[in-house]
Amino acid sequence: MKVHGKQYRTIWLNEDNPKVVQIIDQRHLPHKFVIEDLTTVDEVARAIKDMHVRGAGLIGATAGFGMYIASLLAPQQSEQKFMEALVSDGEKLKATRPTAVNLEWAVNRQLEAVEAAAGDVKAKIMACRDMAQTIADEDADFCRRIGEHGAAIIEEISRAKAGETVNVLTHCNAGWLAFVDFGTATAPIYAAHDKGIKVHVWVDETRPRNQGAGLTAWELGQHGVPHTVVVDNVGGHLMQHGMVDLVITGTDRTTYTGDVANKIGTYLKALAAKDNGIPFYVGLPSSTFDWVIRDGVNEIPIERRDATEVKYIPGQLDGEIRSILVTPEDSPAENYAFDVTPARLVTGLITERGICAASEEGVLGLYPEKRS
Ligand code: MRU
Repeated sequence: MKVHGKQYRTIWLNEDNPKVVQIIDQRHLPHKFVIEDLTTVDEVARAIKDMHVRGAGLIGATAGFGMYIASLLAPQQSEQKFMEALVSDGEKLKATRPTAVNLEWAVNRQLEAVEAAAGDVKAKIMACRDMAQTIADEDADFCRRIGEHGAAIIEEISRAKAGETVNVLTHCNAGWLAFVDFGTATAPIYAAHDKGIKVHVWVDETRPRNQGAGLTAWELGQHGVPHTVVVDNVGGHLMQHGMVDLVITGTDRTTYTGDVANKIGTYLKALAAKDNGIPFYVGLPSSTFDWVIRDGVNEIPIERRDATEVKYIPGQLDGEIRSILVTPEDSPAENYAFDVTPARLVTGLITERGICAASEEGVLGLYPEKRS
């Protein structure tokens, strides 16, 4: 996507020195556009854990590039020691954030690619670099296709409204910043907007990290999509008054039975959408499916982050980023980062292969190779 007119992805190898991974450090957005260099596995792990990068797809792509860095730094004198270092670095990366399944998926995919690569350690490092690039390219391509499939939903609503503006509500940031490019929830919006369909987006601010207010609003603005930021509790009111035609969110992990883990607060939006007869769609690439877990509510690990994220709100004041305490200093706070929306509340899943029902039959209908 374009930033100030220049094409960017969220992660790439430095053109002049391909041993350096470059990311957009999202902690500074929307106020500053900062590019960060990553050259060690610890730096990659910190970038994921402290959310310099975030969002399921980008977490996966970063883990892919992290494993490439791990391969560059692993001992090269014996293949066994090289593999041991890679497995250990993979564990370190996997431990950074528990909910987004793409993380584990990318590390495992790298380990399989390295195991399978014929030849010496140098050949294995090349295999690791190729796989990191493949994971990133695939992520961008899948998101582009999610955009094409999802745009048809917006187009249909637009037709039913005789071309009047289609109002979409989204939660958190499942935009291109959460992936390598295009995004999932926002991809259909960009595709529809680019086709000339009138779209407006209600952007939930998404406390405590404010990914909606800071990231989604910034992205939509860069692309010229009309949008309005609202506090997290407004959605139900908007829906009751006919001001939302459609909800689209992303997901960090979706079971093959259709239960959707996404940013905390998503479940409440889905309940309100159901009560008001508003379609609730979820966009995801196949890398975000969990093909093992059946019961999302009881089995998906939910990340609990530091309470300071709830107690303090960061923002820009006089050109500087400051953090403001909003609770009594001593009040304890709890910071659940995700919740699970049961499949029964989800109208459909928008994937790179098309749209399906949020059910085992629906998902396996699109991915028959996953039937056991
Ligand atoms: O904590 P984050 O910012 O990594 O979480 C991201 C989300 O939960 C988004 O809502 C998104 O839908 C899932 S990532 C594509």
